Amino acid sequence: MKVLFVCLGNICRSPLAEAIFKHKLRKSPLGIDVFADSCGTADYHIGELPDHRTRRNAIRNGVEINHRGRQLQPEDLERFDYILAMDKSNVQNIMQLENASLFQHKIHLLRSFDPDPGDEVPDPYYGGEEGFQSVFEMLDRSLDHFITKIDRELS
Ligand code: 4NP
Repeated sequence: MKVLFVCLGNICRSPLAEAIFKHKLRKSPLGIDVFADSCGTADYHIGELPDHRTRRNAIRNGVEINHRGRQLQPEDLERFDYILAMDKSNVQNIMQLENASLFQHKIHLLRSFDPDPGDEVPDPYYGGEEGFQSVFEMLDRSLDHFITKIDRELS
């Protein structure tokens, strides 16, 4: 099972989602065999570490984060089983890729798995540190429910 987390810049939301997801799977007894990665639809931060606020937030929450920014490529749509976008504009950007309509069934808003109300993970880039903690909590909840779903699918 291959899971790709997608946001705009790949320095705030999606690398944190990837890090939390991997952390949960390492700690989980489920033994789900998963490859996970993250990327951005934009090319602004290729090769960069996650934003310093993202890194600080991950450390504060006990999650190891280790990623370099990369941009979504058309081949990713074929290669990954789940493509989990943070917001609706990410989905629109993904759908601009060539042949994206063939892979529409793989593309979901991550928060469609969140039991709490809300459909997007808002971009924390222009806000304060508290926005990063709110993003962390949305990701944490959504990923718990996503993991339950894929565990059922795989067993
Ligand atoms: P992300 O946040 O999509 O969660 O990584 C952003 C990071 C950078 C920019 C926008 C959003 N930017 O415009 O550089």
